[in-house]
Amino acid sequence: MSAPTEIRVRVAEAEAVTPAIKRLKLVPLTSTPLPDFSGGAHTVVHYTDGPRHVRNPYSLMGSPFDPSAYQISVLRVPDSRGGSALIHDGVHEGTEITITSPINLFPIDRRARRHILIAGGIGITPFMAMTAQLDREGADFQLHYAMRDRASGAYWKLLKSIYGHRVHTYFDDTNETLALTRLLDGQPLGTHLYVCGPAGMIDWVLKTAREAGWPEENVHFERFAAPPPGKPFQVALARSKRTIDVAPRESVLEAIEAAGIEPQFLCRGGACGQCETAVLEADGTLHHNDHYLSDDEKASGKKMMICVSRFEGARLVLDL
Ligand SMILES: Cc1cc2nc3c(=O)[nH]c(=O)nc-3n(C[C@H](O)[C@H](O)[C@H](O)COP(=O)(O)OP(=O)(O)OC[C@H]3O[C@@H](n4cnc5c(N)ncnc54)[C@H](O)[C@@H]3O)c2cc1C
Ligand code: FES
Repeated sequence: MSAPTEIRVRVAEAEAVTPAIKRLKLVPLTSTPLPDFSGGAHTVVHYTDGPRHVRNPYSLMGSPFDPSAYQISVLRVPDSRGGSALIHDGVHEGTEITITSPINLFPIDRRARRHILIAGGIGITPFMAMTAQLDREGADFQLHYAMRDRASGAYWKLLKSIYGHRVHTYFDDTNETLALTRLLDGQPLGTHLYVCGPAGMIDWVLKTAREAGWPEENVHFERFAAPPPGKPFQVALARSKRTIDVAPRESVLEAIEAAGIEPQFLCRGGACGQCETAVLEADGTLHHNDHYLSDDEKASGKKMMICVSRFEGARLVLDL
């Protein structure tokens, strides 16, 4: 997968879809249309407001068939490092921001004869573009969308109005639950399952599908993972001959970027493998927080995903 390029865009619309979810419509600054994307893709939003800075991935949720604009929806995450809050508070209609060209780590599998999409909360965003694409292609799909309640759930009325009986909603406050085992039982051969939502929901769907005998290649998921905080540490970069401090609420990738070095990335959430970096020395413990390396690779201590993984110990030297 080639490295994404940066694009300057202007916020053409900013709408509070719910008290905690803000939708942004992004248009290019020039007459050049935005790059094509497919359902499931995301962009990395880069925005700076004085000393505050955010570089977070967000799923593209507009129609893949409209190259004039992209749309994203950002949930304000409380008790976080504040990237989503910065977008809520600082980005308005008319604000110019930088995004990357689309990256798709959660694509529709074209071999599927039926697509079952399962969303929880803000995990609905990649499915907004996927449903538009599947509908346009005349594919057999159904969307199962679980939310806390009717007021905090985004886009469910819109989705029902467009796709009718193909959309099934479940609200926690009225104890409506998805009968997953029944849903997975008896699906025709060639059905693919896609899930995006809270970690617990993804784990539940993956476990239930595994226990029901679904082949792994028919089950797709995307985790909205973010770098977890930890203890501060130092990292020595062998090729750049620099030593960088990594703060408690900063990832290695962010600390290196702040020092003016631009390592490669795609997801910034430990899923894609793009930021894989060779560990030359590690006198201490590597905390692997990614979903990419195998258990054996993690145990070998020879590489780390610098977007999410951390270190605790005396000395860490990376091949950068
Ligand atoms: C491929 C991909 C697509 C995504 N698409 C979307 C999308 O469409 N919409 C959307 O809203 N989000 C999406 N995300 C998530 C998004 O990128 C951010 O992670 C999210 O907005 C939170 O950002 P933040 O800067 O506010 O929080 P961060 O600081 O990045 O924190 C994220 C999480 O870490 C925990 N955390 C952070 N700091 C601390 C701390 N000091 N103590 C304890 N816990 C802490 C928080 O509980 C929080 O849940 C996506 C992520 C990925 C990987
Ligand atoms: S950027 Fe994707 S795993 Fe680090």
